[in-house]
Amino acid sequence: MAPMIREFNWRQDRRAVLSFQREVYERNFPGFTVDKAFLRDYASQLRRAISSWSEQMWVLEADGELCGFVWVALISTLIDPCVGYIKNVYVVPHLRGQGWGKALLSTAEQWSADQGAAKVVLDASACNQEAVGLYSAQGYEIVRHRMEKGLED
Ligand SMILES: CC(C)(COP(=O)(O)OP(=O)(O)OC[C@H]1O[C@@H](n2cnc3c(N)ncnc32)[C@H](O)[C@@H]1OP(=O)(O)O)[C@@H](O)C(=O)NCCC(=O)NCCS
Repeated sequence: MAPMIREFNWRQDRRAVLSFQREVYERNFPGFTVDKAFLRDYASQLRRAISSWSEQMWVLEADGELCGFVWVALISTLIDPCVGYIKNVYVVPHLRGQGWGKALLSTAEQWSADQGAAKVVLDASACNQEAVGLYSAQGYEIVRHRMEKGLED
């Protein structure tokens, strides 16, 4: 069956979503290792998020298997009272390059717009070319740079 996007279900989907986090975080924060404590903390954030009106998650499912997800939260910034903040987006390796990342992002963007958000924002790691490519292709623009400088000899 063709993959489909549906709302996240805590009981049914949390294990798969947690299993995706190693790749998500180790890819975006080179040198970081996802451990049990991190996953416990992520799970409790997820649990809180699903009971909050200001956060929403969808998953991508194909043949009964979870293949991706997107998580968005409504936040306020110094400038905008209501903005959709894309926290995570993920597609399993074998379904990449087929437009599912784009479809998940569009779902989160549409929901944000429906809630009254004026824009959507996200953070991206410069080392993650796939993600930066997806966001650029979807019309996201760089508005701030986080710069860093090593202090070792
Ligand atoms: C980032 C990610 C979600 C992209 O998912 P995807 O399903 O492959 O994305 P799509 O097929 O919808 O691609 C949409 C656009 O993104 C861009 N893109 C996708 N893969 C790319 C790559 N490897 N290099 C550069 N641009 C890329 C393209 O412009 C593409 O449009 P096109 O196919 O019309 O050219 C996926 O690679 C992923 O899950 N990565 C690991 C998790 C992660 O790092 N998530 C982001 C941070 S939370």
